[in-house]
Amino acid sequence: MLKILHVVGARPNFPKVAPIMAEMARSPQRFTQRLVHTGQHYDERMSAIFFRDLALPQPDIYLGVGSGSHAQQTARIMLAFEEVVLDERPDWVVVVGDVNSTVACALVCAKLGIKIAHIEAGLRSFDRTMPEEINRLLTDQLADLLFTPSPDADEQLLREGIAAERIKFVGNVMIDSLVAALPLAESRPTLHELGLQPSGYGLVTLHRPSNVDDPAAFAGIVGALQTLAQEMPLVFPVHPRSRQRMLDFGLAIDDARLLLIEPQGYLDFLQLTRHARLVLTDSGGLQEETSFLGVPCLTLRPNTERPITVTLGTNRIIGNQRETIVERALDLMQRPMPARPAIPGWDGHAATRIVAALGERA
Ligand code: UD1
Repeated sequence: MLKILHVVGARPNFPKVAPIMAEMARSPQRFTQRLVHTGQHYDERMSAIFFRDLALPQPDIYLGVGSGSHAQQTARIMLAFEEVVLDERPDWVVVVGDVNSTVACALVCAKLGIKIAHIEAGLRSFDRTMPEEINRLLTDQLADLLFTPSPDADEQLLREGIAAERIKFVGNVMIDSLVAALPLAESRPTLHELGLQPSGYGLVTLHRPSNVDDPAAFAGIVGALQTLAQEMPLVFPVHPRSRQRMLDFGLAIDDARLLLIEPQGYLDFLQLTRHARLVLTDSGGLQEETSFLGVPCLTLRPNTERPITVTLGTNRIIGNQRETIVERALDLMQRPMPARPAIPGWDGHAATRIVAALGERA
């Protein structure tokens, strides 16, 4: 019997852990599992709603660390998580993605000699001004088993000197959640309630410090959105970080065609993505979801840690200059929708491969 401790902290973690827990629950004779929520995200709309939408079991342990500077948040998670690990003595700790909770918990385990599995290993933007890049680099160095979503990630880990036997290509587990949730998402009244037509609107998300913490950058992006909204209505679920910055910078938006709404739950957001004519984002996960769904995506960043979404998917990296955003989005609106790409290992069965591999390493 293997004792597994799963860690979640922030919004993008939930759809990565849900399929793995569901898969392990099918083998109760092989695995016992406990879920730790660090509390990095804590608002109803950033956390609790995802547990319901993804049928994720309630956390067994909630650390309640909340927001703070990077050092404060990371340190609080480490202090609280160390006690949990000493108490629980798991065989494996499973961490996902690249948020502060991921690296904080990996570091605790490495020092205690507890084995770490990292889901979504090997992604690199090569941009160390991104907090996530630091988290990715360190977590991958510490992990005992590195599960990758795409072959470029395997190659990168090998280049960094990680032993081949620690690396396993399993595909994209977040796509497992998407595939499982799509029928439910399609039955939601989301579009209807927002007065949107399928393929008749653009979807926007922004929360990266490089876009929303810099007043000039954020104002330029908002200017571009206002121009584009005259061509096609835009819907923009606003992350709490971005909402706060809009207030700080006095960026008022009063435009019926640029719809600012609360952060959406998993199912409502999936419906919005599925039917968008195009997506403008700085999210990591959304580059992958749009690629899987065949929805054109413009990424408002100078780089991506997910190059396969550009080479095989529907993603274009365009930076955050106002004129470029307008030009590229107007151009996309004229083009036919792309074919839905097939990306190896993005097939709804990554969790099966992950759980099988973990079981073998007992
Ligand atoms: C974090 C992750 C980022 C991920 C994003 C998804 C890190 C370094 N960053 O960024 O990789 O893409 O989550 O959302 O781990 N806040 C609330 N309510 C909440 C959570 C946050 O109001 O439930 C506000 C707080 O003012 C907080 C700010 O949002 O200070 C930022 O939260 P934080 O967890 O530090 O980073 P994110 O920008 O959410």
